[in-house]
Amino acid sequence: QAIRLVDYRPFPFEIEETHLHFRLDPSATRVVTTLKIRRTGEAGAPLVLNGERLKLISVSMDGHALDSSAYRQDAEFLTLEAVPDAFVLTTEVEIDPAANKALMGLYMSGGRFCTQCEAEGFRTITYFPDRPDVLSRYTVRIEADQAFQHLLSNGNLIDSGALGGGRHYAVWNDPFPKPAYLFALVAGELDVLEDSFVTMSGRTVALKVFVDPGQAPRGAYALDALKRSMAWDEQAFGREYDLDLFMIVAVRDFNFGAMENKGLNIFNSSLLLADPETATDLDFERIEAVVAHEYFHNWTGNRITCRDWFQLCLKEGFTVFRDQSFSADQRGAAVQRIKDVKALRARQFAEDAGPLAHPVRPSSYLKIDNFYTATIYEKGAEIIRMLKTLLGDDAFRAGSDLYFERHDGQATTVEAFIACFADATGRDLSDFFAWYEQAGTPSVSLASTYDAAARTLEISLTQATAQTPGQPAKKALPIPVTIGLLDANGAPLRDSEVVVLDTSTKTVRWAGIASTPVVSALRGFSAPVNLTTDARPADGYVLFAADPDLFNRWEAGQTLARDLILARAAGSADEVGEERYAEALGRALVDEASEPAFKALLLALPSEPDLALAMEPADPAALHAARRALRTRIAVHLGDLLRRLHGELQASSAFSADARSAGMRALRNGCADLLAADPHALNVDRIVGHFEAAANMTDAMGALSALVQIGGEARDKALAAFHTKWRHEPLVLDKWFALQARDPSASALDRVIALTTHEDFDATNPNRFRALVSTFANFNPARFHDPSGAGYRFLAEKILAVDAYNPMTAARLVEALGGWRRYPDTLGTQMREALSGVAAHPGLSKNVLELASKALD
Ligand code: ARG
Ligand code: ZN
Repeated sequence: QAIRLVDYRPFPFEIEETHLHFRLDPSATRVVTTLKIRRTGEAGAPLVLNGERLKLISVSMDGHALDSSAYRQDAEFLTLEAVPDAFVLTTEVEIDPAANKALMGLYMSGGRFCTQCEAEGFRTITYFPDRPDVLSRYTVRIEADQAFQHLLSNGNLIDSGALGGGRHYAVWNDPFPKPAYLFALVAGELDVLEDSFVTMSGRTVALKVFVDPGQAPRGAYALDALKRSMAWDEQAFGREYDLDLFMIVAVRDFNFGAMENKGLNIFNSSLLLADPETATDLDFERIEAVVAHEYFHNWTGNRITCRDWFQLCLKEGFTVFRDQSFSADQRGAAVQRIKDVKALRARQFAEDAGPLAHPVRPSSYLKIDNFYTATIYEKGAEIIRMLKTLLGDDAFRAGSDLYFERHDGQATTVEAFIACFADATGRDLSDFFAWYEQAGTPSVSLASTYDAAARTLEISLTQATAQTPGQPAKKALPIPVTIGLLDANGAPLRDSEVVVLDTSTKTVRWAGIASTPVVSALRGFSAPVNLTTDARPADGYVLFAADPDLFNRWEAGQTLARDLILARAAGSADEVGEERYAEALGRALVDEASEPAFKALLLALPSEPDLALAMEPADPAALHAARRALRTRIAVHLGDLLRRLHGELQASSAFSADARSAGMRALRNGCADLLAADPHALNVDRIVGHFEAAANMTDAMGALSALVQIGGEARDKALAAFHTKWRHEPLVLDKWFALQARDPSASALDRVIALTTHEDFDATNPNRFRALVSTFANFNPARFHDPSGAGYRFLAEKILAVDAYNPMTAARLVEALGGWRRYPDTLGTQMREALSGVAAHPGLSKNVLELASKALD
């Protein structure tokens, strides 16, 4: 029963008004919904409303109770066969938020009511056409016991007061028509941080951040990020906020990062609460990005929404692109780009290389929840970035302006979005659209020939995309490849130029090239492709030392390191090459001209999961050993320098969360991480000192992570001390679990299994569960891929256990087993067995079933 894009039909009715009346009670909430309905489609079409797990109390039409023969109710729908062309329908249902452990719809978190409706959660709250193209104006009345102090919903508060019996109420009205997935309700005791923002047209918007009682200071950074986001969207995209009030609520139990409900964003507390003692710089950085992301959705998502869920990338890809651009402006473009590309490769390239590969705009699905993927989000953002590269900044802005003007208030499609850029610029973008429909990461190869006598350079580019499930034949895509040239000494020889590779091969000839060039291609990672070139290692060292494009400078270092690790993993270690690499890295570290944050990125070797993508079949144990050996060689070779930097970078002034200070901490932690690979007393004592003196969470985590790498007593003592200090801070305890999940030592799996029965482990909380189980499966390949298969069996067991109450959290773990074809038979067979066991489990959710069966196919 797959849902297909080609089957899209408009809903035959309009819901002119939606009135929701909630009488909140944790285990028996009553919802009375009154819909003003008008037929817009085919005469005689039945009214079919979505509704799941609802206890139906009554149905009435135009004020008259309907007999149960007038409607049909099953597990998914409420159907009224014969309805007039205009009428008012009222339904009353009862739901049980306290029993809702799937965390979709209305549920309880920490004694408070909250909601998550995207994609299809609203249908577990009331009967409604729960699809994104049905937009309606909502009025929401909430009644609850006074103990639930704040009663919040979307839009503006229009009435509130006391009721008898210790109860009170609030009425909210949202003037902007919206689909049901943007509905939100929160009720409970909360502390609030308040501020305001004056928009570019001079309106004052009240800003409120609601957090658990006592946590208000930890909301300040998010509030500041919100104000910066609001100002940025005005300047970068001409987008102004539209309501008089903008609220954010943080909750501890949340399946995802955050949600852009109109005027009432709801956040996982891990992406909202931060102070230097309990949050790392990475947490601050993510909070800033996610606050911006959800705020930016107000235009790209809410004012203009998706016609159907196949268009998910319309709002997500564009919004990710917008938040990445914001972060680049706030924190530095090169460092941001490197981090974004690292994430893209780690998550999206891996997805594209496996059985779950799908286009940025898929054409069918079983559960839309399974499509909130790196492909739709991150590759979706890359497509927008390429569009901007191809069109240029001003033309891109003209296209986005047209989009906002033309489609405001609509539920639209990716085609309509692209048409705005074509119409605004007069460019034909019909070939470009294939980026949305074709899955898989293109491979691009580059070969260059320099003719010294003629002083010409010929560059040949070739593209190919391997087949992916359901797409055996691939076409050529328009790939923007930004190319510049350096000379052999690293001096610039030719500025960047965008070459568009839009056929399977293309050759460009450049004249007037004065000396043998070093080609710097795909600068800034101008397209989401895998590039291979005919460059010699010597060229790589030139780029690593001097490429003015910092992305490619970093990339050159990563490529050199990757090739050394792969050679070692294949049994042919290049020791001379390793020394040379360490030497070059040392020079980069003392380069006065580059930022500490950039140097920190240079220090980090390609991760084990990334390396696994470059080895066929992937041997996790060999990669782990080879990577470790290179780390050790660097640590030995650069020991004095790393220790000196580690000492010099120790902060002497008070903590500041700004990007420059964060970069210095990151570099210092990077030094500690490398020194941990050469664990003699001098280094171990230094790292222990780092841990004991840590006055902020970034320093503490950097040292603790290094100590976990070292293992033994140093690790055990530090972990115990950390637990004692932080056992009452859930967000910090999540980090403690996650660190242990990354433990590389031989006994790690046994420790992880033991941690699942730790008194602080709570499998019903997604943050805690993911910290341990998902971190282990995705970031500790050497231990997850234990030759005995015990890691796979552990994961399969956890998937099934969680699936019983939270299918979405369970489904996201399937991917870790999905790559079984890329491993040697001894491992792959056991992975597949674990997966088959999951797929065969009686009562499995659709979510897990869809992914497990695709992975087995
Ligand atoms: N729209 C939210 C965001 O990107 C995420 C919602 C996730 N929902 C889901 N069913 N996976 O900010
Ligand atoms: Zn989003």
